[in-house]
Amino acid sequence: MEEGHNGATWGPRRPGTRGKGERARGQGLQALSFRLDLVEARRTIAPFVRRTPLVRMRELDSAAVGAIYLKLESLQVTGSFKIRGAANRLAALRAEERSRGVVACSSGNHGKAVAHMAALLGIPATIFVPRWVDPTKQSAMETAGAQVVLAGDTYDEAEAQALDWALARGMTFVQPFDDPWVVAGQGTIGLELLEDIPDLSRVLIPLSGGGLAGGIAYALKERRPEVEVVAVSAERARAMVESLRAGAPVEIPEEETLAEALSGGIGRENRYTLALIRELVDRHSLVSEEAIAAAMAYAFHELHLVVEGGGAVALAAALLEAGRGQPRGGSTAVLVSGGNVSMARWVEVLGRYDPPGPARIRQASHPPPALRPRRRRG
Ligand SMILES: Cc1ncc(COP(=O)(O)O)c(C=O)c1O
Repeated sequence: MEEGHNGATWGPRRPGTRGKGERARGQGLQALSFRLDLVEARRTIAPFVRRTPLVRMRELDSAAVGAIYLKLESLQVTGSFKIRGAANRLAALRAEERSRGVVACSSGNHGKAVAHMAALLGIPATIFVPRWVDPTKQSAMETAGAQVVLAGDTYDEAEAQALDWALARGMTFVQPFDDPWVVAGQGTIGLELLEDIPDLSRVLIPLSGGGLAGGIAYALKERRPEVEVVAVSAERARAMVESLRAGAPVEIPEEETLAEALSGGIGRENRYTLALIRELVDRHSLVSEEAIAAAMAYAFHELHLVVEGGGAVALAAALLEAGRGQPRGGSTAVLVSGGNVSMARWVEVLGRYDPPGPARIRQASHPPPALRPRRRRG
């Protein structure tokens, strides 16, 4: 099994094969012990979400690479795809569950989505966040009317407190990824991609707990199993990748990363997403902090888009692949999953890069030359 960093990939799937320490993987949908109804999820969430735009990246087109489209969930309601899963989960609550209220734990995007949906449905919401939460995301949750509790130095510490709180008060804990309603909600993106890109041949998706990549992979493998699903993790937020290697959920120390939305473990009792990712993802890619920053800068300079670090990892992998001119047929979709970043963080990242010119982007290597860090004077 090949392993790598900065967009290098590991594990082209060979059905039924095993790596060291791994269980058999890549068996596809038939290996899963549960089924998701994405069409029903789509009907449920339609009143609450936006059908997000798809932008063709002509700057990156070449005979070798083929067409590349960005799916802009950064322009989704609440600024990330998370509203899809939250809407599907909260809409499924019974009347007495709604009246007792919901609890969530989130480094930002899930909390923002739960707060927004809870306000729309008249459900009281309490959101636990780790102390390092992005202030923009925290204030958005408070503005939506949720009670925000700062708890713990890591995501996992905040989650433990959120679970205790929910249990003590009989409130529903809204899992950020390992929940069939949430996964089905995120999977509706896959249905949109299949409709919008007839020759879709691969999708690059940010990966943390696996609700997003698991849901989209489910949509694709159920309908067009030949579409390649590539999951992209930040090198400094790789709990799922390590869990796949170990064949069971593993806890790894949380590291600081530009992709803070991707931090945290996959849950010791993971029930759904580890299996989904193991069975349905064809390839994994890891990207460095440098590549993530370069992708955020690229999104601004080329597309005038504000993209957060966690939302930029798949774009980072796509830029690295395009830079290598790796031969591909058909069209590639790249999930830009969120745009919630504080102004201070964004300006700091953007300040490191010169504006890129289209001709230089076309010859992109690693990191794309147009996005090389600016040399500091003096
Ligand atoms: C912007 C963004 N992208 C991607 C992800 C990864 O989603 P998942 O945890 O479902 O893998 C998250 C998770 O919070 C996120 O906030």
